[in-house]
Amino acid sequence: MREGERAVQPKRHDVAAHWDPGPDMAGPIYAMLNTSGVDAIDELGEKLKHIAEIDHFHGGSDETTEILRLMMNIPPSYDLHGLDVGCGVGGPMRWFAHKTGAKMEGVDITSDFVAIANGISNRLGMQGACTAQEGDATNLPYPGASFDFATMMAVSPNVIDRPKLYQSIERVIKPGGIIGMLDLTQGAGGPPIFPAPWSIDGSPKTSLLLTHEDTVAEAGKAGLTLSDTRNITPEVLRWFQKEQKELKVGRRVGREQYLGRYQEMVDNQIRNLSEDRVRFECLVFRKQ
Ligand SMILES: C[S@@+](CC[C@H](N)C(=O)[O-])C[C@H]1O[C@@H](n2cnc3c(N)ncnc32)[C@H](O)[C@@H]1O
Repeated sequence: MREGERAVQPKRHDVAAHWDPGPDMAGPIYAMLNTSGVDAIDELGEKLKHIAEIDHFHGGSDETTEILRLMMNIPPSYDLHGLDVGCGVGGPMRWFAHKTGAKMEGVDITSDFVAIANGISNRLGMQGACTAQEGDATNLPYPGASFDFATMMAVSPNVIDRPKLYQSIERVIKPGGIIGMLDLTQGAGGPPIFPAPWSIDGSPKTSLLLTHEDTVAEAGKAGLTLSDTRNITPEVLRWFQKEQKELKVGRRVGREQYLGRYQEMVDNQIRNLSEDRVRFECLVFRKQ
């Protein structure tokens, strides 16, 4: 382990316990970074692309992060301040910082992810552009109107109190600010099959999918107006099918290195997406 790469912390929340059941989350992630050869690459954009399968922790990896970024149409500027809600180990946060020039903050309920996010940012020399801290998305630890934009990727299925989630995001965004979400929504094909990446058993304490319409309505009640939307289920399905093929032959880099039952999750997500039980969508909102 290198300087700035801290060891694991005690668990505090059911959702954090799902994502990081312990005992050592950091070890496999740093081992993958070490074997990836990222340190030998000079250009930062290339480094970020090279490690995307390690640090973009959602269906579609950097491909879907980039779709959301383009839809948000954030003007390149070193003066902007962005927030990544549920930042995980920080891949999307670093991607947005690099591509837009914005200074990014990340917040996540899983303390070990926060430590790893900051460790990777340090390792890539991005500690001035990206800072992660522990916190709950339903009670964001920032003053009101702190951010020009916010992103939230693959987080909402773990958040039961959606009114509080959207109110909390709305509060920390400046008027006119943009909020981009990569969301999992309930399709017409029936409930999801578990284990799925966000939940082992679909327990109502840690798992909730809303339909597209209910998501837009709940965000609307908090003062967020939908400005753009795209169903990215086909892209995400293709990515899970690639995961399935690679898992069959075995590989050294992938979520199975640190997420239990990943192969089953992948098989189930392919069914969930093919049978329209779960949809992946990009949703872009504005605060009025
Ligand atoms: C699928 S991962 C996505 C991580 C990151 N957004 C990415 O795309 O790489 C879901 C993340 O949401 C975080 N999370 C879930 N509920 C949360 C909450 N109430 N507040 C903050 N983070 C939360 C989890 O700890 C986990 O890191």
